[in-house]
Amino acid sequence: MFFAFKKQDQIFVFLSKVMSIHKLPDFVINRLKAGEVVQRPASLLKELVENSLDAGATELIITINDGGKSFLSLQDNGCGIELSDMDLLLERYATSKIDSEQDLFSLKSYGFRGEALASIAEVSKISVLTKTKYAEIGTKLVRRGNENVIKHLGVPFEHGTLITVEDLFYNVPARLKFLKSAQTEFYYCYNYFVDIALYHYDKAFILKKNDKLVFDLKPARDLQSRILDLFKKDWGEKLIPLAQKFEKLEISGVVSDASLRFGSGENIKIYVNERPIQDKIIRKALMDAYARQITPGEYPMAILMFKIEPSEVDVNVHPAKLQVKFADSQMIYQVVYQTISELLGKHKIGFVGSEFFQGKGTASRPSFPQSSAFPSQKPDFSAFLTAEEKGSEKSDFFSPGIGGRKVENETLFGLGGNQISQFGSLDAEQHQEQFYFHKDIGEYQILGQLWNMYIALQADTALYLIDQHALAERIAFEKMKTSQDLTSESLLQPLKFEVTQIAHLEQKIEELNQLGFEISLLSENVIVIYAIPKVFVQYPVDMGVLLNHVLYLEEITFDHLLDGVYATKACKASIKAGHKLSYLQMQQLVQDGFEFIPGMFVCQHGRPFFVKMDKKHIDGLFDR
Ligand SMILES: Nc1ncnc2c1ncn2[C@@H]1O[C@H](COP(=O)(O)OP(=O)(O)OP(=O)(O)O)[C@@H](O)[C@H]1O
Ligand SMILES: [Mg+2]
Repeated sequence: MFFAFKKQDQIFVFLSKVMSIHKLPDFVINRLKAGEVVQRPASLLKELVENSLDAGATELIITINDGGKSFLSLQDNGCGIELSDMDLLLERYATSKIDSEQDLFSLKSYGFRGEALASIAEVSKISVLTKTKYAEIGTKLVRRGNENVIKHLGVPFEHGTLITVEDLFYNVPARLKFLKSAQTEFYYCYNYFVDIALYHYDKAFILKKNDKLVFDLKPARDLQSRILDLFKKDWGEKLIPLAQKFEKLEISGVVSDASLRFGSGENIKIYVNERPIQDKIIRKALMDAYARQITPGEYPMAILMFKIEPSEVDVNVHPAKLQVKFADSQMIYQVVYQTISELLGKHKIGFVGSEFFQGKGTASRPSFPQSSAFPSQKPDFSAFLTAEEKGSEKSDFFSPGIGGRKVENETLFGLGGNQISQFGSLDAEQHQEQFYFHKDIGEYQILGQLWNMYIALQADTALYLIDQHALAERIAFEKMKTSQDLTSESLLQPLKFEVTQIAHLEQKIEELNQLGFEISLLSENVIVIYAIPKVFVQYPVDMGVLLNHVLYLEEITFDHLLDGVYATKACKASIKAGHKLSYLQMQQLVQDGFEFIPGMFVCQHGRPFFVKMDKKHIDGLFDR
């Protein structure tokens, strides 16, 4: 149809096509629906895991290749699928889990919509291998176009199901384009994996990435044990279990005391009737309860599991079931706020005020300048690698262990004049007569350790006090310099940092990736590190502090990285201040110093690790 009119001597012509309303063909509807359920590999994983759990599985083996874009599979030991059900398996709105609308209000399963597998089949190449306990032989279903091809064949398990999904969105190019890098997609999958592995701590989970084992989690006896298994941390005593029953709901789980906190809220996990969900009300109540314990911008770890009468909560408000709607949200807020406040109160966690963050604390926490590129970039889950790394600087700082040591020192001072007993531990006494020689200082003797912090070393003409932590740090730094091993080593758990105001960030990430890192941009201001150069695994460094330094540079080379390590004290030496050292450890440390630090006592660059007192000077003090 044409419309035309004349305005100021110009003729405007409109072409208008009047469209009649018609029903969309089924395949278009299916495609649209599929998009609601499957947005990315992580949503696919979620649907498969939920089906396995609904099938009573206690062991789940997940393989994610190429971030799940080209391959994702899940093998479970659930009940398997009857041959007679195979034809309906990939049909939309076909489910074995509910019969009527009434069942929606007393759901006992994750699934109920009967659309997940249909959606997955719509946008990928899916195959299903399954066997029930009672069947003599297994069944394999492969989808070819709109046809199901079903075969009977032997399977390598007694009962269970193996679902393989390949080439996600191969037929929806727009969706495929929208997916992020393999690393980032894996990261989303990994996050969901953590959610579900925490909740189902009593089940076994295996996660493989590009066919390499990432997690092999055996059934754990409780949530805390699973947390420790997942994060390989010694957080045990910082986790407070909770279990409370109210009239219409039950809360259980674990929260961290104020000493364990993070730069993002990623370690807050909320589950309602077994589903990991996101919920602003519960989160707000939790954060309000912690308000007096932690500073703004910091978050605790909280794994909160709610059992709520199905009539009090609607889980069917979102096709991916990521949100729920509470009948009485005020009641939920009150219950959460009170429970957590009381719990924290009971545990008598001291007020950790901002003064600790302004440098009044004495421990060697990295300080973040005001204009920091990482306003809250402490690593989530502090996913460092080695045993020495257990516990972040931050959690160490507030840990009861450190508090204990402090008291110990005070008592020592209180004894007055007795400090000399600290000079030599028993085994030091046995070695005290041992003399060594080095060309720079002549004959020397290790006298012992002072206050578990300094090594006292007596040479011919001077007394040296060595800061054991600074020396160990410097040795690690020098070793790093010579090692230069830039092959990548994958982190068990990726590290996530928030970055702001970094010019040419993508180019800098590229430069770091050339140096053995594997970093990708998750969003405009969030980067994720998946792998780091081996040298930093052998000699751990504080990644946040290091990045904070090098990302500001115009160009990043390995030397710049080392400068960064040195300038920011990002080096995480295993020997800390406050560690009691045996004589042999002291001797090793001093010898390593001579070996790796050029001119150890001759000239001192950067942060001092020793003080030298000339004998002459000491004599002078006594008017000799
Ligand atoms: N791993 C599995 N083991 C046993 N049966 C399964 C498995 N995966 C799927 N099924 C069967 O296939 C049916 C369809 O699964 P699908 O995920 O599409 O729907 P659903 O789980 O019923 O509902 P929803 O769409 O909400 O997930 C399920 O109802 C179940 O009977
Ligand atoms: Mg399902």
